[in-house]
Amino acid sequence: MNIGIDTLSLYVPRYYLDLGHLAAARQVPADKYRRGLGQEQMAVPPPDEDIITMAATAGLAALRGSDRSTLDRVILATESGVDQSKAGALYLHRLLELPARCQAFEVKQACCGSTVALQLALDHVRLHPTRRVLVVAADIARYELGSPGEPTQGAGAAAFVVSARPRLLACDAPTGSYTEDVMDFWRPPYRDTALVDGKFSVKMYLTALQESYQDYLAAGGVPVAQLARCCYHLPFTRMAEKAHAHLTGTAIEGDALTAIAAGMSYNRLIGNSYTASLYISLAAMLESTSEDLSGQRVGLFAYGSGCMGLFRSATVVPGYQEVLQTERHRQLLWERQPLTVADYQRFYATQLPTDGSTLSWARHATGPFRLAGITGHQRQYERVAVAEKAAPALPVPPVAAHAPVAALVSVG
Ligand code: CAA
Repeated sequence: MNIGIDTLSLYVPRYYLDLGHLAAARQVPADKYRRGLGQEQMAVPPPDEDIITMAATAGLAALRGSDRSTLDRVILATESGVDQSKAGALYLHRLLELPARCQAFEVKQACCGSTVALQLALDHVRLHPTRRVLVVAADIARYELGSPGEPTQGAGAAAFVVSARPRLLACDAPTGSYTEDVMDFWRPPYRDTALVDGKFSVKMYLTALQESYQDYLAAGGVPVAQLARCCYHLPFTRMAEKAHAHLTGTAIEGDALTAIAAGMSYNRLIGNSYTASLYISLAAMLESTSEDLSGQRVGLFAYGSGCMGLFRSATVVPGYQEVLQTERHRQLLWERQPLTVADYQRFYATQLPTDGSTLSWARHATGPFRLAGITGHQRQYERVAVAEKAAPALPVPPVAAHAPVAALVSVG
């Protein structure tokens, strides 16, 4: 039985910061961010956007035109949850008008929570082939101002429906994993920025990649040379180059570059979105590759600090192009508003009160859901009218000519 990803939808905040401006403000050469990290821009959420509003918007698009009564579960994967007890998926359940019999819960294991949720969804559909599961990944990556992690911030959401007879990707059975208790990146409940041992986190990422790939091979997976494309968790896009070179033992040029280039194109403009990052890369890869990938295998690697690595492959379903939301996603990227560094820092500094008092946010540009404010410790979400425009054929915003791979929005 084929089980896998039937639809895949993204959402990114309506504002971004050009990293050239951040580099100037931090007195760092812009090439350090552009070439050294492989990032051009980072998505910045306004005060009235949080992981719930982003997740709901992506989830709404993933469910468009489908029968909600066949959904058994909505699973939210996030490491920037809004409550220590209540699952954020409960808000999604209401905002997406899901049936009462549809379960709603949250999973967490840093950036690989979404891939754990995918596995839970696959297992559920294998047992109940007529049912479907909605997985939504949403995060806001936040580091201290002026820290090495600052240019790797970002935000976004990805939502996908898992079903039997999927129209996008059929997931292969072999999977590989690697788990070890380490302190490379973490965030205690009293902090709103991550603590990170940056260089160690890159080392653990590569260790988890190698070990989980070997485990995948031992489970009957195919060698990386037989994977037409590879998508990686992308804390910053240079990480894919490091990862693919580590896995293949080759320089990132020719076929090796083709295997990863398209998958970096959206993330380069969005930044890190933790749980959503791998699935934003997957959407970018499918939507930015002009070659017909039908029947070809793609590799997917998820890394969650702390740490766990998960490696798997999937086969692209013939006719997948019909299901892609390419124009919607490009429009989302194209229509964002640029921020100055001062505006970014103003957004960054906003906080909800923690004493139970009431606060209403001024309205900024958002998707169809916004966080109106808070009252009595309860977040208030509202639906807003967002004009649906006819989607023109838009390119991903142009990138600097010196960028090694970002210009490859449409690659063979
Ligand atoms: N022109 C071109 N390149 C330049 C340059 C310039 N002027 N100046 C520096 N560079 C290059 C460096 O040579 C380096 O390249 P290599 O990696 O190939 O050596 C690169 O820019 C980064 O520079 P530094 O080595 O000086 O590193 P940094 O102090 O800026 O820190 C980082 C980089 C550790 C990734 C930091 O951004 C960080 O801590 N980020 C957050 C943690 C993170 O993303 N970890 C990734 C793995 S963990 C994970 O994946 C989970 C997750 O989502 C967080």
